[in-house]
Amino acid sequence: MKAFYFLSLAATCLLSGVSAFPALKDPSSPQYAEFLKRAAEIKAGKYAFGDILKRAENASSSLETPGGGFGHRRLTALLNPDNFKYNAKEQYVDLTSDEHKYIPPGPDDLRGPCPGLNILANHGYFNRNGVTNLFQGIDGINKVFGVEYDLALALNAYAVVFNGNILDLSWSIGGPFKSKDLGALEDVLVGEPAGINAHNIYEGDASIVRQDYYAPGSGYDNVELYMPYFKDLLALGNNDATDGKDVYNAELMLQHKANRWHQSVATNPYFFQSAFGGLVVTTAAERFVAEFAANNTVDENGYNRIYLDEKNLLAFFGVEKGASGNLTYTPGTERLLPSWTRRPLAATFGLDDIVLNLLHAVSIDQSLLSLGGNTGKVNSFAGVDAADITGGAVHTADLLSDPQALSCFLFQTTTEEVVPTLLSSIYKDTGKALDFLGKNFNVPFKKLATAGNNPCTRYNTNATGHYSEFPGSKIPRKQDQGVVGTILGGGSD
Ligand code: HEM
Repeated sequence: MKAFYFLSLAATCLLSGVSAFPALKDPSSPQYAEFLKRAAEIKAGKYAFGDILKRAENASSSLETPGGGFGHRRLTALLNPDNFKYNAKEQYVDLTSDEHKYIPPGPDDLRGPCPGLNILANHGYFNRNGVTNLFQGIDGINKVFGVEYDLALALNAYAVVFNGNILDLSWSIGGPFKSKDLGALEDVLVGEPAGINAHNIYEGDASIVRQDYYAPGSGYDNVELYMPYFKDLLALGNNDATDGKDVYNAELMLQHKANRWHQSVATNPYFFQSAFGGLVVTTAAERFVAEFAANNTVDENGYNRIYLDEKNLLAFFGVEKGASGNLTYTPGTERLLPSWTRRPLAATFGLDDIVLNLLHAVSIDQSLLSLGGNTGKVNSFAGVDAADITGGAVHTADLLSDPQALSCFLFQTTTEEVVPTLLSSIYKDTGKALDFLGKNFNVPFKKLATAGNNPCTRYNTNATGHYSEFPGSKIPRKQDQGVVGTILGGGSD
Protein backbone atom coordinates (compact mmCIF):
# COMPACT_ATOMS: atom_id res chain seq x y z
CA MET A 1 0.00 0.00 0.00
CA LYS A 2 1.38 3.35 -0.90
CA ALA A 3 0.14 6.74 0.09
CA PHE A 4 -1.19 7.68 -3.26
CA TYR A 5 -4.15 9.76 -4.26
CA PHE A 6 -5.10 7.70 -7.20
CA LEU A 7 -7.02 10.25 -9.14
CA SER A 8 -5.13 13.38 -8.33
CA LEU A 9 -2.73 13.15 -11.22
CA ALA A 10 -5.54 12.78 -13.58
CA ALA A 11 -7.21 15.98 -12.53
CA THR A 12 -4.55 17.96 -14.25
CA CYS A 13 -5.65 16.51 -17.55
CA LEU A 14 -9.15 17.76 -17.11
CA LEU A 15 -7.77 21.15 -16.37
CA SER A 16 -5.29 21.02 -19.22
CA GLY A 17 -2.12 22.56 -17.95
CA VAL A 18 -3.46 23.70 -14.63
CA SER A 19 -1.53 22.30 -11.72
CA ALA A 20 -2.46 24.67 -8.90
CA PHE A 21 -5.75 23.46 -7.50
CA PRO A 22 -6.27 26.37 -5.09
CA ALA A 23 -6.85 28.61 -8.10
CA LEU A 24 -9.99 26.66 -8.75
CA LYS A 25 -11.51 27.87 -5.55
CA ASP A 26 -11.72 31.28 -7.12
CA PRO A 27 -14.70 31.26 -9.48
CA SER A 28 -13.33 34.23 -11.41
CA SER A 29 -9.99 32.56 -12.20
CA PRO A 30 -9.19 31.59 -15.81
CA GLN A 31 -8.62 28.04 -14.61
CA TYR A 32 -12.10 27.85 -13.26
CA ALA A 33 -13.49 29.26 -16.48
CA GLU A 34 -11.59 26.55 -18.33
CA PHE A 35 -13.08 23.90 -16.07
CA LEU A 36 -16.57 25.23 -16.70
CA LYS A 37 -15.96 25.24 -20.43
CA ARG A 38 -14.74 21.69 -20.36
CA ALA A 39 -17.71 20.54 -18.31
CA ALA A 40 -20.04 22.32 -20.72
CA GLU A 41 -18.43 20.48 -23.61
CA ILE A 42 -18.93 17.20 -21.83
CA LYS A 43 -22.56 17.96 -21.25
CA ALA A 44 -23.06 19.16 -24.79
CA GLY A 45 -21.87 15.82 -26.10
CA LYS A 46 -18.46 16.67 -27.44
CA TYR A 47 -17.17 13.50 -25.82
CA ALA A 48 -18.62 10.01 -25.92
CA PHE A 49 -20.00 10.59 -22.45
CA GLY A 50 -22.40 13.15 -23.81
CA ASP A 51 -24.04 10.51 -25.97
CA ILE A 52 -25.89 9.14 -23.03
CA LEU A 53 -27.58 12.39 -22.20
CA LYS A 54 -31.21 11.49 -21.96
CA ARG A 55 -32.15 15.13 -22.06
CA ALA A 56 -30.56 15.71 -25.43
CA GLU A 57 -33.44 17.68 -26.80
CA ASN A 58 -32.90 20.21 -24.06
CA ALA A 59 -29.17 20.04 -23.86
CA SER A 60 -28.12 22.55 -26.45
CA SER A 61 -30.43 25.32 -25.38
CA SER A 62 -29.84 24.61 -21.73
CA LEU A 63 -26.17 25.36 -22.05
CA GLU A 64 -26.86 28.88 -23.25
CA THR A 65 -27.18 31.41 -20.46
CA PRO A 66 -27.46 35.16 -20.83
CA GLY A 67 -24.07 35.76 -19.19
CA GLY A 68 -22.37 32.77 -20.85
CA GLY A 69 -21.05 29.77 -18.92
CA PHE A 70 -23.46 28.10 -16.61
CA GLY A 71 -25.25 31.03 -15.07
CA HIS A 72 -25.06 32.24 -11.52
CA ARG A 73 -24.96 28.82 -9.90
CA ARG A 74 -22.06 27.73 -12.05
CA LEU A 75 -23.39 24.23 -12.39
CA THR A 76 -20.38 22.59 -13.85
CA ALA A 77 -21.89 19.21 -14.23
CA LEU A 78 -25.57 19.52 -14.68
CA LEU A 79 -28.22 20.92 -16.84
CA ASN A 80 -28.76 24.26 -15.22
CA PRO A 81 -32.32 24.48 -13.91
CA ASP A 82 -32.11 28.21 -14.48
CA ASN A 83 -31.98 27.72 -18.24
CA PHE A 84 -35.55 26.53 -18.32
CA LYS A 85 -38.71 28.59 -18.14
CA TYR A 86 -40.31 28.40 -14.75
CA ASN A 87 -43.48 26.33 -14.88
CA ALA A 88 -45.48 26.75 -11.69
CA LYS A 89 -47.84 23.90 -12.47
CA GLU A 90 -45.17 21.37 -13.37
CA GLN A 91 -42.90 22.31 -10.50
CA TYR A 92 -45.54 22.38 -7.81
CA VAL A 93 -45.26 19.73 -5.12
CA ASP A 94 -48.13 19.14 -2.71
CA LEU A 95 -46.75 19.67 0.78
CA THR A 96 -49.88 20.79 2.59
CA SER A 97 -52.83 18.48 1.84
CA ASP A 98 -53.87 15.98 4.49
CA GLU A 99 -52.02 13.31 2.56
CA HIS A 100 -48.77 15.26 2.18
CA LYS A 101 -48.60 17.76 4.99
CA TYR A 102 -45.61 17.56 7.29
CA ILE A 103 -46.15 15.21 10.23
CA PRO A 104 -43.19 14.37 12.48
CA PRO A 105 -42.52 10.67 12.98
CA GLY A 106 -44.26 8.81 15.80
CA PRO A 107 -42.35 6.69 18.33
CA ASP A 108 -42.51 3.55 16.17
CA ASP A 109 -41.64 5.22 12.87
CA LEU A 110 -38.16 4.73 11.45
CA ARG A 111 -35.96 7.60 10.34
CA GLY A 112 -32.28 7.56 9.42
CA PRO A 113 -29.24 9.51 8.22
CA CYS A 114 -30.69 10.66 4.90
CA PRO A 115 -32.60 13.93 5.17
CA GLY A 116 -34.08 13.47 1.69
CA LEU A 117 -35.67 10.15 2.61
CA ASN A 118 -36.80 11.35 6.04
CA ILE A 119 -38.54 14.25 4.29
CA LEU A 120 -40.34 11.92 1.91
CA ALA A 121 -41.68 9.92 4.85
CA ASN A 122 -42.58 13.05 6.85
CA HIS A 123 -44.56 14.35 3.86
CA GLY A 124 -46.27 11.05 3.10
CA TYR A 125 -44.54 10.37 -0.22
CA PHE A 126 -43.02 7.32 1.46
CA ASN A 127 -44.93 5.26 4.03
CA ARG A 128 -44.83 7.37 7.15
CA ASN A 129 -43.51 4.42 9.17
CA GLY A 130 -40.20 4.66 7.27
CA VAL A 131 -40.44 1.30 5.52
CA THR A 132 -40.68 1.88 1.80
CA ASN A 133 -40.19 -0.31 -1.25
CA LEU A 134 -38.55 -0.31 -4.66
CA PHE A 135 -41.43 1.25 -6.56
CA GLN A 136 -42.44 3.87 -4.02
CA GLY A 137 -38.76 4.72 -3.58
CA ILE A 138 -38.20 5.36 -7.29
CA ASP A 139 -41.44 7.25 -7.71
CA GLY A 140 -40.96 9.40 -4.60
CA ILE A 141 -37.46 10.66 -5.28
CA ASN A 142 -38.29 11.29 -8.92
CA LYS A 143 -41.61 13.04 -8.35
CA VAL A 144 -40.60 15.23 -5.42
CA PHE A 145 -36.93 15.94 -6.08
CA GLY A 146 -36.41 15.27 -9.79
CA VAL A 147 -33.95 12.38 -9.47
CA GLU A 148 -33.70 10.75 -12.89
CA TYR A 149 -35.04 7.22 -13.21
CA ASP A 150 -31.68 5.55 -13.91
CA LEU A 151 -30.22 6.91 -10.69
CA ALA A 152 -33.45 6.38 -8.75
CA LEU A 153 -33.49 2.73 -9.83
CA ALA A 154 -29.85 2.16 -8.94
CA LEU A 155 -30.16 3.79 -5.48
CA ASN A 156 -33.29 1.85 -4.65
CA ALA A 157 -32.14 -1.49 -5.98
CA TYR A 158 -28.99 -1.25 -3.89
CA ALA A 159 -31.09 -0.41 -0.81
CA VAL A 160 -33.40 -3.39 -1.37
CA VAL A 161 -30.59 -5.87 -1.67
CA PHE A 162 -28.23 -4.56 0.99
CA ASN A 163 -30.52 -2.87 3.49
CA GLY A 164 -33.91 -4.43 2.83
CA ASN A 165 -35.95 -7.46 1.99
CA ILE A 166 -35.30 -8.88 -1.43
CA LEU A 167 -38.41 -11.07 -1.22
CA ASP A 168 -40.98 -8.28 -1.04
CA LEU A 169 -38.67 -5.44 -2.21
CA SER A 170 -39.17 -3.39 0.96
CA TRP A 171 -36.37 -1.48 2.64
CA SER A 172 -35.97 0.78 5.64
CA ILE A 173 -34.87 4.42 5.61
CA GLY A 174 -33.53 3.87 9.14
CA GLY A 175 -32.63 0.82 11.19
CA PRO A 176 -33.84 -2.81 11.20
CA PHE A 177 -37.49 -3.34 10.34
CA LYS A 178 -40.24 -5.88 10.08
CA SER A 179 -41.86 -6.67 6.76
CA LYS A 180 -44.24 -9.16 5.22
CA ASP A 181 -41.94 -11.94 4.10
CA LEU A 182 -39.31 -11.36 6.70
CA GLY A 183 -39.59 -14.85 8.11
CA ALA A 184 -38.71 -16.42 4.80
CA LEU A 185 -35.65 -14.23 4.59
CA GLU A 186 -33.97 -16.32 7.21
CA ASP A 187 -33.38 -18.84 4.48
CA VAL A 188 -31.41 -16.45 2.32
CA LEU A 189 -29.91 -13.89 4.69
CA VAL A 190 -27.21 -14.28 7.31
CA GLY A 191 -29.15 -11.91 9.60
CA GLU A 192 -32.08 -9.53 9.52
CA PRO A 193 -32.00 -6.59 7.08
CA ALA A 194 -30.35 -3.66 8.77
CA GLY A 195 -31.82 -0.61 7.00
CA ILE A 196 -29.68 2.18 5.57
CA ASN A 197 -28.20 3.08 8.96
CA ALA A 198 -25.84 0.12 8.63
CA HIS A 199 -22.31 1.45 8.42
CA ASN A 200 -20.03 0.72 5.46
CA ILE A 201 -22.78 -0.70 3.31
CA TYR A 202 -24.47 2.45 2.09
CA GLU A 203 -23.60 4.85 4.89
CA GLY A 204 -20.00 6.07 5.05
CA ASP A 205 -17.54 8.45 6.68
CA ALA A 206 -16.98 12.20 6.33
CA SER A 207 -20.69 12.80 5.88
CA ILE A 208 -22.05 16.30 5.70
CA VAL A 209 -23.29 16.71 9.24
CA ARG A 210 -23.13 13.21 10.77
CA GLN A 211 -20.25 11.76 12.75
CA ASP A 212 -18.13 8.85 11.58
CA TYR A 213 -19.36 5.57 13.04
CA TYR A 214 -15.97 4.58 14.47
CA ALA A 215 -14.86 8.09 15.45
CA PRO A 216 -13.81 8.33 19.10
CA GLY A 217 -16.58 9.92 21.14
CA SER A 218 -19.26 9.38 18.50
CA GLY A 219 -20.88 6.57 20.48
CA TYR A 220 -21.31 4.80 17.11
CA ASP A 221 -23.84 7.45 16.16
CA ASN A 222 -23.70 7.87 12.40
CA VAL A 223 -27.36 8.80 12.14
CA GLU A 224 -28.18 11.97 14.04
CA LEU A 225 -27.11 15.42 12.95
CA TYR A 226 -24.01 16.62 14.80
CA MET A 227 -24.46 20.30 15.54
CA PRO A 228 -20.77 21.37 15.40
CA TYR A 229 -20.56 20.13 11.78
CA PHE A 230 -23.80 21.86 10.93
CA LYS A 231 -22.47 25.08 12.41
CA ASP A 232 -19.31 24.67 10.32
CA LEU A 233 -21.51 24.52 7.24
CA LEU A 234 -23.35 27.68 8.25
CA ALA A 235 -20.03 29.41 8.94
CA LEU A 236 -18.84 28.50 5.46
CA GLY A 237 -21.90 30.36 4.22
CA ASN A 238 -20.85 33.29 6.47
CA ASN A 239 -24.00 32.66 8.51
CA ASP A 240 -25.77 34.57 5.81
CA ALA A 241 -29.49 34.30 6.58
CA THR A 242 -30.73 36.49 3.72
CA ASP A 243 -34.03 35.12 2.48
CA GLY A 244 -33.90 33.97 -1.13
CA LYS A 245 -30.10 34.12 -1.42
CA ASP A 246 -28.31 31.21 -3.07
CA VAL A 247 -25.73 30.68 -0.35
CA TYR A 248 -25.45 26.86 -0.27
CA ASN A 249 -24.54 26.19 -3.88
CA ALA A 250 -22.55 23.32 -5.38
CA GLU A 251 -19.13 24.89 -4.84
CA LEU A 252 -19.83 25.65 -1.21
CA MET A 253 -21.17 22.18 -0.53
CA LEU A 254 -18.20 20.48 -2.17
CA GLN A 255 -15.85 22.74 -0.22
CA HIS A 256 -17.67 21.65 2.92
CA LYS A 257 -17.20 18.04 1.86
CA ALA A 258 -13.47 18.67 1.42
CA ASN A 259 -13.29 20.23 4.89
CA ARG A 260 -15.17 17.31 6.39
CA TRP A 261 -12.85 14.84 4.66
CA HIS A 262 -9.74 16.41 6.18
CA GLN A 263 -11.51 16.75 9.54
CA SER A 264 -12.26 13.01 9.54
CA VAL A 265 -8.71 12.12 8.57
CA ALA A 266 -7.45 14.31 11.42
CA THR A 267 -9.84 13.01 14.11
CA ASN A 268 -10.93 9.48 13.26
CA PRO A 269 -8.17 6.84 13.36
CA TYR A 270 -10.53 4.50 11.49
CA PHE A 271 -11.61 6.86 8.73
CA PHE A 272 -12.39 4.90 5.57
CA GLN A 273 -13.47 5.86 2.10
CA SER A 274 -14.79 3.05 -0.06
CA ALA A 275 -15.56 3.07 -3.77
CA PHE A 276 -19.35 3.10 -3.57
CA GLY A 277 -20.21 4.51 -0.11
CA GLY A 278 -17.36 7.00 -0.19
CA LEU A 279 -16.80 8.12 -3.74
CA VAL A 280 -20.33 7.78 -4.99
CA VAL A 281 -22.75 8.15 -2.05
CA THR A 282 -21.22 10.69 0.33
CA THR A 283 -19.80 12.93 -2.40
CA ALA A 284 -23.07 12.85 -4.29
CA ALA A 285 -25.05 13.53 -1.10
CA GLU A 286 -23.17 16.76 -0.64
CA ARG A 287 -24.22 17.84 -4.12
CA PHE A 288 -27.77 16.65 -3.44
CA VAL A 289 -28.11 19.44 -0.92
CA ALA A 290 -27.35 22.15 -3.48
CA GLU A 291 -29.56 20.50 -6.09
CA PHE A 292 -32.50 19.06 -4.19
CA ALA A 293 -32.85 20.96 -0.94
CA ALA A 294 -32.79 24.14 -3.02
CA ASN A 295 -35.96 26.05 -3.62
CA ASN A 296 -37.02 27.21 -7.08
CA THR A 297 -38.82 30.35 -8.08
CA VAL A 298 -39.38 32.52 -11.13
CA ASP A 299 -37.00 35.32 -12.16
CA GLU A 300 -37.91 38.62 -13.82
CA ASN A 301 -37.62 37.02 -17.29
CA GLY A 302 -39.86 34.07 -16.54
CA TYR A 303 -36.94 31.66 -16.08
CA ASN A 304 -36.40 29.35 -13.17
CA ARG A 305 -34.20 30.60 -10.35
CA ILE A 306 -32.82 27.90 -8.07
CA TYR A 307 -31.43 28.92 -4.70
CA LEU A 308 -30.69 27.46 -1.32
CA ASP A 309 -30.91 29.96 1.50
CA GLU A 310 -30.52 29.34 5.21
CA LYS A 311 -34.24 29.06 5.86
CA ASN A 312 -34.69 26.16 3.44
CA LEU A 313 -31.43 24.55 4.55
CA LEU A 314 -32.51 24.52 8.22
CA ALA A 315 -35.86 22.95 7.39
CA PHE A 316 -34.20 20.32 5.16
CA PHE A 317 -31.93 19.26 8.05
CA GLY A 318 -34.60 19.39 10.79
CA VAL A 319 -33.05 22.37 12.56
CA GLU A 320 -34.92 25.33 14.04
CA LYS A 321 -33.51 28.75 14.81
CA GLY A 322 -34.75 30.56 17.89
CA ALA A 323 -35.24 34.29 18.30
CA SER A 324 -31.79 34.64 19.82
CA GLY A 325 -30.20 32.72 16.96
CA ASN A 326 -29.86 29.47 18.93
CA LEU A 327 -30.17 26.31 16.86
CA THR A 328 -32.19 23.27 17.90
CA TYR A 329 -32.11 19.96 16.06
CA THR A 330 -34.90 17.45 16.58
CA PRO A 331 -34.06 14.07 15.00
CA GLY A 332 -36.43 12.96 12.26
CA THR A 333 -38.07 16.36 11.76
CA GLU A 334 -36.67 17.13 8.32
CA ARG A 335 -39.21 18.90 6.14
CA LEU A 336 -39.83 21.06 3.09
CA LEU A 337 -41.34 24.49 3.65
CA PRO A 338 -44.82 24.98 2.19
CA SER A 339 -43.36 27.52 -0.28
CA TRP A 340 -40.82 25.00 -1.60
CA THR A 341 -40.99 24.17 -5.32
CA ARG A 342 -39.09 21.47 -7.19
CA ARG A 343 -36.59 21.98 -10.00
CA PRO A 344 -37.87 22.00 -13.61
CA LEU A 345 -38.86 18.55 -14.84
CA ALA A 346 -36.30 18.65 -17.65
CA ALA A 347 -33.38 19.43 -15.33
CA THR A 348 -33.31 16.03 -13.65
CA PHE A 349 -30.18 14.61 -12.03
CA GLY A 350 -29.01 11.21 -13.20
CA LEU A 351 -26.19 8.71 -12.91
CA ASP A 352 -24.13 10.67 -15.42
CA ASP A 353 -24.35 13.67 -13.14
CA ILE A 354 -22.91 11.64 -10.28
CA VAL A 355 -19.82 11.05 -12.38
CA LEU A 356 -19.58 14.64 -13.52
CA ASN A 357 -20.02 15.73 -9.92
CA LEU A 358 -16.95 13.71 -9.02
CA LEU A 359 -15.02 15.58 -11.67
CA HIS A 360 -16.24 18.81 -10.19
CA ALA A 361 -15.31 17.65 -6.69
CA VAL A 362 -11.73 16.95 -7.66
CA SER A 363 -11.40 20.46 -8.98
CA ILE A 364 -12.09 21.66 -5.46
CA ASP A 365 -10.03 19.09 -3.58
CA GLN A 366 -8.20 16.16 -5.10
CA SER A 367 -8.39 14.11 -1.87
CA LEU A 368 -12.10 13.61 -2.36
CA LEU A 369 -11.47 11.03 -5.02
CA SER A 370 -9.01 8.91 -3.14
CA LEU A 371 -9.86 5.40 -2.11
CA GLY A 372 -8.52 4.14 1.22
CA GLY A 373 -8.39 5.22 4.84
CA ASN A 374 -6.48 5.84 8.03
CA THR A 375 -4.50 2.88 9.30
CA GLY A 376 -5.44 3.06 12.98
CA LYS A 377 -4.03 6.48 13.81
CA VAL A 378 -5.29 9.91 12.93
CA ASN A 379 -3.63 11.55 9.95
CA SER A 380 -2.33 8.23 8.67
CA PHE A 381 -4.40 8.28 5.49
CA ALA A 382 -3.11 5.88 2.89
CA GLY A 383 -4.67 5.46 -0.49
CA VAL A 384 -4.92 2.27 -2.44
CA ASP A 385 -2.21 2.11 -5.04
CA ALA A 386 -3.60 3.09 -8.40
CA ALA A 387 -1.52 0.54 -10.25
CA ASP A 388 -3.14 -2.21 -8.20
CA ILE A 389 -6.61 -0.86 -8.75
CA THR A 390 -6.35 -0.80 -12.48
CA GLY A 391 -4.30 -3.95 -12.70
CA GLY A 392 -1.62 -1.73 -14.16
CA ALA A 393 -3.54 -1.81 -17.40
CA VAL A 394 -4.48 1.79 -17.68
CA HIS A 395 -2.84 5.01 -16.77
CA THR A 396 -5.04 6.45 -14.04
CA ALA A 397 -4.83 9.86 -15.60
CA ASP A 398 -7.48 8.54 -17.96
CA LEU A 399 -9.96 8.47 -15.16
CA LEU A 400 -10.32 12.17 -14.94
CA SER A 401 -9.42 13.24 -18.40
CA ASP A 402 -12.29 11.11 -19.59
CA PRO A 403 -15.61 10.85 -17.71
CA GLN A 404 -16.31 7.70 -19.68
CA ALA A 405 -13.25 6.08 -18.18
CA LEU A 406 -14.27 7.16 -14.70
CA SER A 407 -17.77 5.74 -15.21
CA CYS A 408 -16.27 2.49 -16.38
CA PHE A 409 -13.90 2.36 -13.43
CA LEU A 410 -16.70 2.97 -10.92
CA PHE A 411 -18.88 0.41 -12.65
CA GLN A 412 -16.25 -2.29 -12.62
CA THR A 413 -15.11 -1.61 -9.08
CA THR A 414 -18.62 -1.51 -7.68
CA THR A 415 -20.49 -4.15 -9.61
CA GLU A 416 -17.81 -6.65 -10.44
CA GLU A 417 -15.96 -6.58 -7.21
CA VAL A 418 -17.34 -4.76 -4.20
CA VAL A 419 -20.93 -5.85 -4.65
CA PRO A 420 -20.30 -9.61 -4.95
CA THR A 421 -17.96 -9.48 -1.96
CA LEU A 422 -20.51 -7.64 0.14
CA LEU A 423 -23.27 -9.97 -0.97
CA SER A 424 -21.43 -13.05 0.07
CA SER A 425 -21.22 -11.75 3.62
CA ILE A 426 -24.91 -10.88 3.83
CA TYR A 427 -26.55 -13.72 1.90
CA LYS A 428 -26.35 -17.43 2.50
CA ASP A 429 -27.17 -17.88 -1.15
CA THR A 430 -26.24 -14.93 -3.35
CA GLY A 431 -27.97 -16.15 -6.53
CA LYS A 432 -31.27 -14.31 -6.19
CA ALA A 433 -29.63 -11.11 -5.00
CA LEU A 434 -27.08 -11.16 -7.81
CA ASP A 435 -29.82 -11.73 -10.33
CA PHE A 436 -31.87 -8.83 -8.95
CA LEU A 437 -28.89 -6.49 -8.92
CA GLY A 438 -27.89 -7.60 -12.38
CA LYS A 439 -31.22 -6.40 -13.73
CA ASN A 440 -31.81 -3.32 -11.62
CA PHE A 441 -28.49 -1.95 -10.45
CA ASN A 442 -25.97 -3.10 -13.03
CA VAL A 443 -28.10 -2.32 -16.06
CA PRO A 444 -28.36 1.48 -15.68
CA PHE A 445 -24.80 1.62 -14.42
CA LYS A 446 -23.52 -0.43 -17.34
CA LYS A 447 -25.41 1.70 -19.81
CA LEU A 448 -23.48 4.67 -18.54
CA ALA A 449 -20.15 2.85 -18.44
CA THR A 450 -20.49 1.51 -21.97
CA ALA A 451 -22.00 4.58 -23.63
CA GLY A 452 -20.52 5.39 -27.01
CA ASN A 453 -19.79 1.68 -27.61
CA ASN A 454 -17.08 1.71 -25.00
CA PRO A 455 -16.63 -1.97 -24.05
CA CYS A 456 -15.65 -1.15 -20.43
CA THR A 457 -13.66 -4.27 -19.74
CA ARG A 458 -10.29 -2.79 -19.10
CA TYR A 459 -9.98 -2.44 -15.35
CA ASN A 460 -8.96 -5.50 -13.48
CA THR A 461 -9.66 -3.81 -10.20
CA ASN A 462 -8.63 -5.20 -6.87
CA ALA A 463 -10.04 -2.59 -4.54
CA THR A 464 -11.70 -4.96 -2.08
CA GLY A 465 -8.48 -6.90 -1.79
CA HIS A 466 -7.07 -3.77 -0.23
CA TYR A 467 -9.97 -2.85 2.01
CA SER A 468 -8.78 -5.15 4.80
CA GLU A 469 -5.68 -2.96 5.10
CA PHE A 470 -7.93 -0.32 6.63
CA PRO A 471 -9.42 -1.11 10.06
CA GLY A 472 -12.31 1.28 9.41
CA SER A 473 -13.57 -0.86 6.53
CA LYS A 474 -15.23 -3.32 8.89
CA ILE A 475 -18.97 -3.69 8.83
CA PRO A 476 -20.03 -3.53 12.46
CA ARG A 477 -21.90 -6.32 14.16
CA LYS A 478 -24.24 -4.59 16.54
CA GLN A 479 -27.51 -5.81 17.88
CA ASP A 480 -29.37 -2.61 17.15
CA GLN A 481 -28.15 -2.49 13.60
CA GLY A 482 -29.07 -5.98 12.54
CA VAL A 483 -26.45 -8.54 11.81
CA VAL A 484 -24.68 -8.55 8.54
CA GLY A 485 -21.57 -10.32 9.64
CA THR A 486 -18.04 -9.24 9.14
CA ILE A 487 -16.51 -8.50 5.87
CA LEU A 488 -13.39 -7.82 3.96
CA GLY A 489 -10.99 -9.31 6.38
CA GLY A 490 -12.27 -7.41 9.39
CA GLY A 491 -13.59 -8.71 12.68
CA SER A 492 -16.60 -7.44 14.53
CA ASP A 493 -16.78 -4.80 17.18
C1 HEM B 1 -33.27 5.77 -2.73
C2 HEM B 1 -32.69 6.93 -2.60
C3 HEM B 1 -31.69 7.27 -1.53
C4 HEM B 1 -30.98 6.46 -0.69
C5 HEM B 1 -31.02 4.95 -0.60
C6 HEM B 1 -30.19 7.30 0.16
C7 HEM B 1 -29.34 6.86 1.14
C8 HEM B 1 -28.53 7.66 1.91
C9 HEM B 1 -27.58 7.20 2.86
C10 HEM B 1 -27.29 5.75 3.18
C11 HEM B 1 -26.99 8.27 3.40
C12 HEM B 1 -25.88 8.28 4.44
C13 HEM B 1 -24.60 8.56 3.68
C14 HEM B 1 -23.53 9.09 4.55
O1 HEM B 1 -22.99 8.33 5.33
O2 HEM B 1 -23.20 10.26 4.43
C15 HEM B 1 -27.55 9.43 2.80
C16 HEM B 1 -27.18 10.71 3.09
C17 HEM B 1 -27.71 11.80 2.50
N1 HEM B 1 -28.70 11.82 1.57
FE1 HEM B 1 -29.65 10.26 0.78
N2 HEM B 1 -30.43 8.61 -0.16
C18 HEM B 1 -31.34 8.64 -1.20
C19 HEM B 1 -31.87 9.76 -1.80
C20 HEM B 1 -31.60 11.04 -1.42
C21 HEM B 1 -32.23 12.21 -1.97
C22 HEM B 1 -33.30 12.22 -3.04
C23 HEM B 1 -31.67 13.29 -1.34
C24 HEM B 1 -31.99 14.75 -1.50
C25 HEM B 1 -33.19 15.20 -1.52
C26 HEM B 1 -30.70 12.80 -0.41
C27 HEM B 1 -29.90 13.60 0.38
C28 HEM B 1 -28.96 13.13 1.26
C29 HEM B 1 -28.09 13.99 2.02
C30 HEM B 1 -28.03 15.50 1.99
C31 HEM B 1 -27.29 13.15 2.81
C32 HEM B 1 -26.17 13.54 3.75
C33 HEM B 1 -26.64 13.68 5.17
C34 HEM B 1 -25.51 14.09 6.09
O3 HEM B 1 -24.43 13.61 5.99
O4 HEM B 1 -25.74 14.90 6.94
N3 HEM B 1 -30.68 11.43 -0.49
N4 HEM B 1 -28.51 9.03 1.90
